[in-house]
Amino acid sequence: AAIRHYKWDVKYEYKSPDCFKKLSITINGMAPGPTITAHQGDTVVVEVTNSLVTEGLTIHWHGIRQIGTPWFDGTEAVSQCPIVSGDTFVYKFVVDRAGTYLYHAHYGMQREAGLNGMIIVSVPKGQSEPFVYDFDRSILLTDWYHKSTHEATAGLTSKPFVWIGEPQSLLIQGRGWYNCSLVNAPTSNTGVCNTTNPECSPFSMTVVPGKTYRLRVGSLTSLAALSFEIEEHNMTVVEADGHYVEPFTVKNLFIYSGETYSVLVTANQDPSRNYWATVNVVSRKPSTPTGLAIFNYYPNPPLRHPPTVPTTGPMWNDTEPRLAQSHAIKARKGYIIPPPPTSDRHIILLNTQNKIDGYTKWALNNVSLTFPTTPYLVALKEKRLTYKLPELFDQTPPPDVYDWEHYDIHNIAPNVNATSRNAIYRLDFNTTVDVVLQNANTMNPNNSETHPWHLHGHDFWVLGYGEGKFNPLNDPKKYNLVNPIMKNTVPLHPYGWTALRFRADNPGIWLFHCHIDSHFLMGMGVVFEEGIDKVGELNSSIMGCGLTKNFFRP
Ligand code: C2O
Ligand code: CU
Repeated sequence: AAIRHYKWDVKYEYKSPDCFKKLSITINGMAPGPTITAHQGDTVVVEVTNSLVTEGLTIHWHGIRQIGTPWFDGTEAVSQCPIVSGDTFVYKFVVDRAGTYLYHAHYGMQREAGLNGMIIVSVPKGQSEPFVYDFDRSILLTDWYHKSTHEATAGLTSKPFVWIGEPQSLLIQGRGWYNCSLVNAPTSNTGVCNTTNPECSPFSMTVVPGKTYRLRVGSLTSLAALSFEIEEHNMTVVEADGHYVEPFTVKNLFIYSGETYSVLVTANQDPSRNYWATVNVVSRKPSTPTGLAIFNYYPNPPLRHPPTVPTTGPMWNDTEPRLAQSHAIKARKGYIIPPPPTSDRHIILLNTQNKIDGYTKWALNNVSLTFPTTPYLVALKEKRLTYKLPELFDQTPPPDVYDWEHYDIHNIAPNVNATSRNAIYRLDFNTTVDVVLQNANTMNPNNSETHPWHLHGHDFWVLGYGEGKFNPLNDPKKYNLVNPIMKNTVPLHPYGWTALRFRADNPGIWLFHCHIDSHFLMGMGVVFEEGIDKVGELNSSIMGCGLTKNFFRP
């Protein structure tokens, strides 16, 4: 196995990904950042220098389980202190399974300022995959705001809550196209939005007629659930979050923040023209225009516009086809990893939007997650601190269940109050855990949102999705224990439930949270601890904040 070495300098720079000039966080001048490529079993070393000047930083390797290296998970307040401005931090981890993964900042809302990218892990040399293609390509989908993430954060954490609204653009591989005539900039400010800037010419993917492409699609949107399609072309889904899928063909692929898919696309249409590749918002009433890229048939000019009107995607509020796609994703025959037939612990998490002291929050079983100043991993592992645990964070575990018999998920709760806590779920090592995510009505009438849930440190089996209220007495009988897909991110559909199972076999502290940036900031997550006594010696590079700062005082 090889060592793949990367040296990254992270800073703020002006970028115009959708023609509108905005301060973005870049890696070596790029947003999205460089793609990490490796073979299964390789060690990836990323030397990150924080040149943000006035901000801390951490980077999370989304989908990489960090077996044996929980301190390199890159989650601020969970696995490490933020990298202070000017400092260099070295992440070092093994990519132990082939597939398509992501990386992004995991501190405040830095992710949506542009610090994101893809990790592509190929099968070991000499090994082959259960499908064939001629070329391997990848695209990252994001959404893009013109206001700064600082402004977004200030609004989310103010009383009353100020919502920054829907994103201005959808970016395909970091490129979008904003209608600059909508910007009422004073004439002295021309150059703020400039549609002739080559930085915002659409992403163009060149294909050779007759060839088959493996297209790796990842989403790191801050908010939007997306439908992706390539005009006139079918896509065969073959991989999800690093696991082979029993192939099925779609016209449009629904993809939620934190998910990755590989689809096979054959360039089998009229080769005399180009085609639109589009992304459209679903699940929220869209006020963000269609994101556009060009599927370019060689030798047509790469940027020649297709002669057609870009597709606007399925109805935003039609949940049915999204649920149907979720149901369709099954493990591929020959690659099925059977789940344990039973589970040792059953956690049901009711997802609600709440008010706490006048602030708008999200909560699970009425607990909205906040973080201690000392990262959990350090608090629980560092011998110089463990006697102080009760001071470091709330030691009373959050509830495993909610009052499912009486809660009405279809209406606004009569009492929308919740509590903010930094308590964690402690799981017995090597046990099997079921988590059911239960959706509900928000604080607005007739509204329930889609939440993409992501688990750090594990892949889980997706045992089922259902509509309405999960009944723990009957619904588990419908679980798919035969060929469930394993994933690290799943959608929780409006007014529905999603059931997962995982083995608590990776010593460490792991976040499980909604991948919508603003929801996570408003407390939509939980923390799992497992096998903390089996975690090896911590490296002092993850410390320096909270109570650990005392260690470094002379
Ligand atoms: Cu990609 Cu904690 O998230
Ligand atoms: Cu959410």
